[in-house]
Amino acid sequence: ATDVRDLFKSPGKYSDKEVMVEGWIRTIRDSKNFGFIELNDGTFMKNVQVVFENNLSNFDEVKKYPTGSAITVKGNLLLTPEAKQLFEIKATEIKMEAESESSYPLQKKRHSLEYLRTIAHLRPRTNTFAAVFRVRSLAAYAIHKFFNERGFIYAHPPIITASDAEGAGEMFRVTALDLDNIEKLDGKTDYTKDFFGKSANLTVSGQLEAEIFALAFKNVYTFGPTFRAENSNTSRHAAEFWMIEPEIAFADLNDNMQLAEDMVKYVISYVMENAKEEMEFFNSFVEKGLFDKLNNVIDSEFGKIDYTDAIEILKKNNDNFDYPVQWGTDIQTEHERYLSEKIFGKPVFVTNYPKEIKAFYMRMNEDNKTVAAMDLLVPGIGELIGGSQREERLDMLEKRMDEMGIEKEGMWWYMELRKYGGVKHAGYGLGFERLIMYLTGMGNIRDVIPFPRTPKNAEF
Ligand code: 4AD
Ligand code: MG
Repeated sequence: ATDVRDLFKSPGKYSDKEVMVEGWIRTIRDSKNFGFIELNDGTFMKNVQVVFENNLSNFDEVKKYPTGSAITVKGNLLLTPEAKQLFEIKATEIKMEAESESSYPLQKKRHSLEYLRTIAHLRPRTNTFAAVFRVRSLAAYAIHKFFNERGFIYAHPPIITASDAEGAGEMFRVTALDLDNIEKLDGKTDYTKDFFGKSANLTVSGQLEAEIFALAFKNVYTFGPTFRAENSNTSRHAAEFWMIEPEIAFADLNDNMQLAEDMVKYVISYVMENAKEEMEFFNSFVEKGLFDKLNNVIDSEFGKIDYTDAIEILKKNNDNFDYPVQWGTDIQTEHERYLSEKIFGKPVFVTNYPKEIKAFYMRMNEDNKTVAAMDLLVPGIGELIGGSQREERLDMLEKRMDEMGIEKEGMWWYMELRKYGGVKHAGYGLGFERLIMYLTGMGNIRDVIPFPRTPKNAEF
């Protein structure tokens, strides 16, 4: 078959020549002596327009081909500079490869995103999801490219682990079904040891292992699935999501923020340049003004504000919040959005949070009240990134673990890292799905994950 991406890139090359395209029928319409097929072969966002006429030997059958069918088309390429599409293929031969039944759910009318979630096995064939999953693929590539250009090592932390990296207790337990091999206590299965005699869970974050790698390779990143057993039904939380976690040694919070800003800008630029058709689609049909928003992000310097100062600003608006704030309260989505949308109008880092509302591993500041944390808040989403400089002083780390009730026994290796050249280091986690929402304007995390895992949702 002809390379459809190349057809769209340089149709002139194929003018008046024979081409062959295989794909799925998106739409088909006909009149008495001719018809049109919008054909999509999956390799390119746009459909190929096929014209067929009654000189085709199987004209009457082709007219009845159902949408969703897989066909092959041979024909001549005609440039159509006046028309909406650049070219069309005048068919000389059309062959059915796999006929679709007439019950095919993706008919011409617009379907709601909610409905399309119930047919996750077919929704990649719609324009919207074709564009989303292409952008998702390209953004993943851009992230790898960004870090590789800077010499970062791609580290692979385990999915099954014994530690709770965030200390928040939001883990899914891993259970071996081979119950005979599980330790028994008084003859009964001990479900605290159901990973063949030990306890294990799905990782909530690869950070702790990334720290190990950073203290060996200096600059590293992870990119993989992470899991949170939080029973929250919001448009921004999933039980399974992908996280990018860079970790850098000989680096502090400012280096960390610089890296995050560079990375976000790089990925946005890369996707805008390399997914033009998809991004046009989002800009026209999903979020009006998307291009302005993203260009503004690339051109702006991200804002920076101390948690303490942010609270002063937020307090003035307390009457309008569902959850009024004061120093010490966690910043929630409504506050995150108020800061990034109303006050800054661009992405903003909030730094130096009270130690009580952040994880045990964050580095204590001089004031003994706040830690060297940074969250990146962006308009429309809220928290896109969470990170910090890490506590590299063993005595301080142990103190925090004790205060926060973190079980130290299983974390001996994490503490030992501080004894052997545990230089200052920092890192962050970027929620990949939230980045895709930001890039595309899609409003629900369920619509940027091929098979979303949210409470009670594990069908496909
Ligand atoms: O702020 P979080 O929990 O930070 C960490 O896990 C650190 N260990 C990261 C690090 O410093 N290496 O999560 C980081 C990001 C959030 O900012 C958010 O974008 C995303 O991960 N995230 C979620 N995305 C979708 N669904 C969820 N349930 C998420 N929880 C966090
Ligand atoms: Mg966070």
